[in-house]
Amino acid sequence: MKTLDDLYRELELRNAQAELAGGPDRIAKQHEGGKKTARERIIELLDPNTFNEFDKFVTHRNTDFGMDKNRIPGDGVVTGYGKIDGRLVYVYAYDFTVFGGTLSRANADKIIKLQQLAIRMGAPIIGLNDSGGARIQEGVQSLAGYAEIFYNNVRSSGVIPQITCIMGPCAGGAVYSPALTDFIIMVKDSSYMFVTGPDVIKAVTHEEVTKDELGGAVTHNAKSGVAHFIAENDEQALMLIRELMSFLPVNNMDEPPVVPTTDDPLREEESLQVLIPADPNKPYDIKELILTVVDDRNFLEVQPLYAKNIVVGFARMAGHTVGVVANQPAHLAGVLDIDASVKAARFIRFCDSFNIPLVTFVDVPGFLPGVNQESNGIIRHGAKLLYAYSEATVPKIAVITRKAYGGAYCVMSSKQVGADVNFAYPMAEIAVMGPEGAVNILYRSKIDSEETRQHLIDEYRDTFANPYRAAELGYIDEVIYPRQTRAKLIQALEMTRTKSQQNPPRKHGNIVL
Ligand code: HXC
Repeated sequence: MKTLDDLYRELELRNAQAELAGGPDRIAKQHEGGKKTARERIIELLDPNTFNEFDKFVTHRNTDFGMDKNRIPGDGVVTGYGKIDGRLVYVYAYDFTVFGGTLSRANADKIIKLQQLAIRMGAPIIGLNDSGGARIQEGVQSLAGYAEIFYNNVRSSGVIPQITCIMGPCAGGAVYSPALTDFIIMVKDSSYMFVTGPDVIKAVTHEEVTKDELGGAVTHNAKSGVAHFIAENDEQALMLIRELMSFLPVNNMDEPPVVPTTDDPLREEESLQVLIPADPNKPYDIKELILTVVDDRNFLEVQPLYAKNIVVGFARMAGHTVGVVANQPAHLAGVLDIDASVKAARFIRFCDSFNIPLVTFVDVPGFLPGVNQESNGIIRHGAKLLYAYSEATVPKIAVITRKAYGGAYCVMSSKQVGADVNFAYPMAEIAVMGPEGAVNILYRSKIDSEETRQHLIDEYRDTFANPYRAAELGYIDEVIYPRQTRAKLIQALEMTRTKSQQNPPRKHGNIVL
């Protein structure tokens, strides 16, 4: 009979063996590549001493290809729960040292167990990806595992925040679990995502491309819009997850955490009085306005490298999380195009799912004209933004800082798509189109000189290109001085905190995909 000491010793040995995962050589290789191991990443992500690991002794069940002689406790993924800033989160990290972190049926079961717990307990789930994809030796069992993970991603969507960090390879159908989550962070140089890699592409389309060009962190952050954040290394990526989490509630029935601040809610900023140039064609940086009005100049921009003509991200006002959406006049004059519409629509839907009020800064000359935009479906994609604003029932506050022209007026959180409070600055221009375009259409045959044209433009601007027509109709609740922006927004947010609005009962809407 084994003694108690024997029994404890056995557990100790088994734990040590599991923690050694793929062995010292593979761990060393991981470190050489500038990457941490799965357990190191989890420990760094969570509050100290809060990680509780599940299924440490689970092994794969495959007997083909001699795999029965090669089992590693825990298999290729480390799973469990812990805390971030004292709040429960579930976390899984693919372990590249074990069969390249590939997905066996057993690995899938470990992740699915976590997904089901996360939904049941109403807590966020965070995935750290570093994997060769489907484990080839397991065939359809691996594919079935993926499909079940995708299914649970979709069931979790809008119920609990789902965050994915890509810290190594992520190829093939494996990309679709991250794609179904709310935010993707990618580590520069060590991560990539693609459905088919460079070799397959070369064989099929004869295109030559490197892994990094095809699916590296910069490509997905700046070009494809697949990813939301870029990090220099593992440490920065993990800190970014913690920062992002600080703005979010743990589930759709919860409120985001309130972070006390010493920043005066009634603070007035004289610098804002001159931020927006008197010349409506001169650009300015909307991020300066955002930084100046939010608490402590703290703004976590989402997708900063993609569709820069619209800025989205999280901030706090009087300690409460807000989702900021803002046209960026410093990039393409802040025009709305396909990418900007889709970027903002997805962000708005996230905020609405998780009870985060929306603050919108409007300065938009309209939708981008062009054959390319039309033939790629600006109608369909622009409609997504309209849909997202109209559907959102969280408090919606808007400030028209300058231009609100045409359809873009309607879309950008207008009173008529359900905004609760609409402000405008005195330099706001709210009309069907800008003065130049309007005069050309209205007086085409009457313009006989440049002088007449300029006179008509000035007349149009005085009549229509101001906030007062809209204010007379009650479409703008208050014309404010720019210096008052922070105080006005905070009071409006406080006033709307008890907002209770429901859309008509339905299975789900039919968003224009
Ligand atoms: C089984 C795999 C594997 C896989 C890697 N390994 N990928 N084992 N199935 N898919 C094993 C390797 O044999 C190796 O084992 C160990 O993992 C580490 O891999 P290396 O190749 O030595 O590492 P590295 O040089 O860093 O290259 C990593 C890699 C490469 C780029 C990921 O391994 C690779 O291209 N793998 C195949 C990727 C792929 O095509 N996956 C399928 C995608 S399709 P040893 O024992 O030698 O250390 C897919 C479908 C999902 O995933 C569908 C869902 C709907």
